[in-house]
Amino acid sequence: MKNPLAEITELVRRETGIALPAAREAALRAALRRAAPGTDPAAFLRSVSDPAGGRGLMNRLIDEVTVQETSFVRDRGQLDTIAWHSLLQAARAGGSRTIRAWSAGCASGEEAYTLALLADQALPLVDAPVDVLGTDISGAALAAAALGRYRDRAVRALPPSPRGRYLDQQADGSYLVGERLRRMVRFRRHNLASGPFPPPGEAAFDLVVCRNVLIYFERSLVVQVIDSLRRSLRPGGVLILGAADVITGSTARAADPAAGPVCPARPDARRLRRPLGREPAQSREQRLAAALEAADKSDRDDALSQVASVLADNPLDADALFVQGLVTLEAGEPARAVVALRRALYADPAFSLAAFTLGRAHDAVGDALAARRAYERFLRTLDPADHRHELILQQVDIGDIAAACRARLGEQP
Ligand SMILES: C[S@@+](CC[C@H](N)C(=O)[O-])C[C@H]1O[C@@H](n2cnc3c(N)ncnc32)[C@H](O)[C@@H]1O
Repeated sequence: MKNPLAEITELVRRETGIALPAAREAALRAALRRAAPGTDPAAFLRSVSDPAGGRGLMNRLIDEVTVQETSFVRDRGQLDTIAWHSLLQAARAGGSRTIRAWSAGCASGEEAYTLALLADQALPLVDAPVDVLGTDISGAALAAAALGRYRDRAVRALPPSPRGRYLDQQADGSYLVGERLRRMVRFRRHNLASGPFPPPGEAAFDLVVCRNVLIYFERSLVVQVIDSLRRSLRPGGVLILGAADVITGSTARAADPAAGPVCPARPDARRLRRPLGREPAQSREQRLAAALEAADKSDRDDALSQVASVLADNPLDADALFVQGLVTLEAGEPARAVVALRRALYADPAFSLAAFTLGRAHDAVGDALAARRAYERFLRTLDPADHRHELILQQVDIGDIAAACRARLGEQP
């Protein structure tokens, strides 16, 4: 028998798609101890191949190795982009009374309930406007989801009014999901690594949300899963990937140039109307905002000419160089993006978001070593107080980017 721990790593990868880098060996050992107390890796391998109890043991290990961190309205900025009215119109045009939504990799259910809550708030006159399916590979997570009882930490981002309306506070301080949300949400087990897509018996979805799941997958699987999720949508349906999945997606895309684009973290041009850099010079802001607006409309030339006019005033304007890098990266010109982003970092060595985007650009040209260095630099220079994070990022939580970088670098998240 080869190294039993390596065999278990391979078993987890085959079963779940989750890659466990060598740096996570201690975490795997701890997960094994929790799943099968008193059993060493070799004995675990023997027991897991037993036709009678093996499956249950494997499921316990899956419960333990999966990262189930989640909360209500996580990454609110991203959820706010969901156009519930258009989704309902499209669903009705397709003959369905309700919007069909899928929270894939829903963990203990907060994301699925959040989708129901947001739909209900956006469409108050429609009775149960959404049918949300929450799926996960972990039986323990699904049991918690079905129970729908949450501690304070899970609901902290939920303002008091929806909290009081949709959840019932219990004597011990916990919150129990109320009937209104429960009517709109159901849970079932589904493995994103092995399908099928959509889950058996499910019709195509209007909305698929899969966030903070793919970052843990082996890269070769990521493009495949994204394509399968896309195929689970009705024509014109919406797929939302988590901000933290951006790295995984772009890396996987680099590994498979034939694959289609993944939903990237989109900059929000409206936010750039507020000062982006240190000096609040109005015309500069307007030109940078116009550049991002043009990029949003896929008008690369207009976007780059706006940036060029800012750079004509100051060739080392770090923000303009950053936007130039972002625009060229999204336009499929990663080598050009690398040049612009390196310059941005030369102009402002502590511009961590430029380091992160440089990592994505290096990944897109297939330079894994340089990408690694850029992600390390991002983590080194990350300053949560740097206001550019809020100003530039719409769908991205900086903490999630940091977690994704750590996962990418094989560190503990
Ligand atoms: C970090 S949670 C994400 C929860 C939620 N989507 C969010 O963003 O808050 C990741 C979830 O993905 C699930 N997962 C991991 N591998 C999976 C697979 N192959 N199929 C389905 N779910 C999987 C884990 O069990 C875990 O609950």
